[in-house]
Amino acid sequence: MKTVTTLIFLLFVSTSASAAEPEGVPPPPEAYCKWEMTNYSIPSPLCGLKGEVPRGEKLVSDAAKGNCLACHELPIKGVEAYGTVAPPLSGIANRLSEAQLRLRVVDSRHLNPNSIMPGFYRDPSLINRPGKGYEGRTFLAAQDVEDVIAYLGTLK
Ligand code: HEC
Repeated sequence: MKTVTTLIFLLFVSTSASAAEPEGVPPPPEAYCKWEMTNYSIPSPLCGLKGEVPRGEKLVSDAAKGNCLACHELPIKGVEAYGTVAPPLSGIANRLSEAQLRLRVVDSRHLNPNSIMPGFYRDPSLINRPGKGYEGRTFLAAQDVEDVIAYLGTLK
């Protein structure tokens, strides 16, 4: 009898835990940092954060995060398949400054209103019908965006 009670208790605990945190839902939103655009670029790092190159390199090929490889070629070892719907990003730092890169990653619709590229740090209040669990959130955290920018800056 004791085992049954324990089992029921465990069942209850596990279901209520999963109800509070359903699978696939991103962590709670962090405070959104407003950014400013000048000359089709965003000169200041989001929330004043500093990006880390190795983290950025992981994020660009992480299908659940940046997933940049779905559309762009990137010089990442061991990756042979990538999307070709977007310009290759090898050597991108020779053409775009860090500030210009930031606007592309944050919200490329400011350059091309029909862009199919996701806005990774678009103002959540401007997003129409956000996906379930994405209300009030950006696709990537500010730190993630800065890490991606830092990595792109090395592609010379
Ligand atoms: C769904 C496809 C898609 C995904 C995913 C995507 N992009 Fe893009 N990206 C594009 C397209 C298409 C363009 C070309 C400009 C436009 O149409 O907005 C572009 C343009 C760019 C540019 C400017 C390139 C140039 O030559 O001027 C940069 C930089 C960039 N993307 C970075 C990224 C990064 C970093 C990621 C991942 C965090 C990413 N993109 C994810 C489709 C995508």
